[in-house]
Amino acid sequence: MIDSEHRMLFDAINQLLDACATGSGRTQITQTAQFLADYVDQHFSDEEKLQRENEYPHYKSHHTFHIKYKEMIRNLSNEFKHSEVTVQKVGELNRLVSILISHIKSEDKRLANYLKGQDV
Ligand SMILES: [Fe+2]
Repeated sequence: MIDSEHRMLFDAINQLLDACATGSGRTQITQTAQFLADYVDQHFSDEEKLQRENEYPHYKSHHTFHIKYKEMIRNLSNEFKHSEVTVQKVGELNRLVSILISHIKSEDKRLANYLKGQDV
C-alpha cells in the first residue's frame, strides 16, 4: 500500500512537470499543491500506523518530521489557493517536493528495511 501511495505521488509530480513544460503550470500548480497536502495527510498516517504496529524504533523522529512537513505543505497549499502564484511560491513548492522525495528515499527506505527484518 505504501509503495502504491508513493507511486501516486510521483505521478502527481510528473503531471505537474508536464504541465509546466506545456505552459499550463500555473493552473496545475494550485491543484498539485492541494493534492500533495491531502496526500501527505493520508499517507503519513498510514505509514505511522504501520510503524506503531511494528514497534518501529525510529517512530518518534519520523513522526516529528511528518508533523512539520504536513504543516508546511498545508500552509503553502492555502497560499496558492488564496493568493497569486509567484515564482517564490513555485520555488517553495519545488523545495518541499524535493524534501519529500529525499524523505522517501532515506527514511521510508529505512522503515522498509526494518519491516523486512534488516537492521536499521
Ligand atoms: Fe515517512
